[in-house]
Amino acid sequence: MNITKICCIGAGYVGGPTMAIIAQKCPDIKVTVVDLNEERIAQWNNPDVTKIPIYEPGLSEVVSEARGRNLFFSTDVDGAIDEAQMIFISVNTPTKTYGSGKGMAADLKYIELCARQIARVAKDDKIVVEKSTLPVRTAEAIKSILDNTGNGVQFQILSNPEFLAEGTAVEDLLKPDRVLIGGDTTPAGEAAIDALVNIYSKWVDRNNILTTNVWSSELSKLTANAFLAQRVSSINAISELCEKTGADVNEVARAIGMDSRIGSKFLKSSVGFGGSCFQKDILNLVYIAKTFGLREVADYWEQVIIMNDHQKRRFANKIVSTLYNTVADKKICFLGWAFKKDTNDTRESAAIYVASDLVSEQANIAVYDPKVESEQVISDLEYIGVSEKGRDRVKSYGSAYEACDSAHAIAVLTEWDEFKEYDWTLIYKNMQKPAFVFDGRNLLDGKKLTEIGFIYKSIGS
Ligand code: UDX
Ligand code: UDX
Repeated sequence: MNITKICCIGAGYVGGPTMAIIAQKCPDIKVTVVDLNEERIAQWNNPDVTKIPIYEPGLSEVVSEARGRNLFFSTDVDGAIDEAQMIFISVNTPTKTYGSGKGMAADLKYIELCARQIARVAKDDKIVVEKSTLPVRTAEAIKSILDNTGNGVQFQILSNPEFLAEGTAVEDLLKPDRVLIGGDTTPAGEAAIDALVNIYSKWVDRNNILTTNVWSSELSKLTANAFLAQRVSSINAISELCEKTGADVNEVARAIGMDSRIGSKFLKSSVGFGGSCFQKDILNLVYIAKTFGLREVADYWEQVIIMNDHQKRRFANKIVSTLYNTVADKKICFLGWAFKKDTNDTRESAAIYVASDLVSEQANIAVYDPKVESEQVISDLEYIGVSEKGRDRVKSYGSAYEACDSAHAIAVLTEWDEFKEYDWTLIYKNMQKPAFVFDGRNLLDGKKLTEIGFIYKSIGS
């Protein structure tokens, strides 16, 4: 099957960049990205491409090349579904906040709504591609909805999990380690898989395109994220031991990372991992294991989350205890709010939880993040239940120098490169003394800061 029209439901961090690259690499395919959120679509259509709603290095260039040529952003979901032969579902699947599986299972209501809408609108055969990370066996549920509520047309469901990491999305999409496509092992399933393989093979070596059954594909995504998150929790667990023993976690990470069996990536000790995927995907894994009565399996993976929560809390506690056991009415500057550098995404960012802990100790927080707006900071705090009184203690600033002015301490929450380039002597001069730096990313040159006069505390040494 030769695909000439694609639709993607969900213009978020996954749908937007992925479709922009497909459109760039396949100029003969019309790619329409739709979203219920009108404001988001309007932002994607902003004539000034630097104002698109998602910040990713290199993304605005790709969008400016393809937009209006064969890449379109629209709120006409029905129209886009109707004309497409292939529909990607890329809507969010947050952790359930109610009912059975609350706090653990994925909320699939948006996925179900999409499936029902596709079924209602489709007048000819369609290939439906799961792009959102989903619990294992979701494809089956989508299939059941499509087949039972549709107009008698044929649907093929593919699982095509996205492995891009935010902040490097464009690079990851252009040169993926692998593309994974799961589908039915029937002739029609294999034809659908081929149709998607043909799209990716426009720019990805066929040897790097893996095809599997649907369930292997779904489970592989959860497993990849669980393994990556586990590495971060593992090194973070060692960081606490390092602080007690006099070992230095950066040295330990370097030493173990040079073992080619272990490898050097994802060994950076930090204030804790964040992002929309790690926690959610592990919770999904835990929930599935529990559902099948696999208690040990569930407990094993849940420990990765427990460790991560501990690391965030431990960082906040260390700030309080170092500042002579009280931060009440002290000004603490947060450098960074995003969950990692080079993104404006703040979902599950460690900064939110550390701020919440410090605010409950009545600290005042001054936030500077190069890409995060002040409204986002406040809505993140509201989302996790910080009271209005607490939120009033948190203010955003337009520059790090302002945020640090007369602060008692600085906490580095995101590893933005620009923080390394600052005039730290000037920052020191304008702070309260003694001036502390709590480096939650082990980003800064501790020796240099100590020479300037700071009391410098890193993670794991
Ligand atoms: C991320 C992950 O990458 C994904 O795998 C995970 O399952 C959820 O979080 P992401 O693209 O980052 O996905 O989500 P988000 O930026 O929230 O984008 C989802 C978009 O879907 C939003 O713009 C939302 O408005 C839209 N949406 C949601 C719809 O268009 N229709 C719906 O029914 C629900
Ligand atoms: C992750 C997966 O990497 C990606 O393949 C998947 O598609 C979505 O989930 P993402 O969440 O965007 O991507 O970012 P990632 O680079 O994996 O970082 C996740 C979190 O772990 C961040 O908060 C990051 O700061 C933290 N981290 C990562 C560490 O603390 N230490 C490390 O060594 C690596």
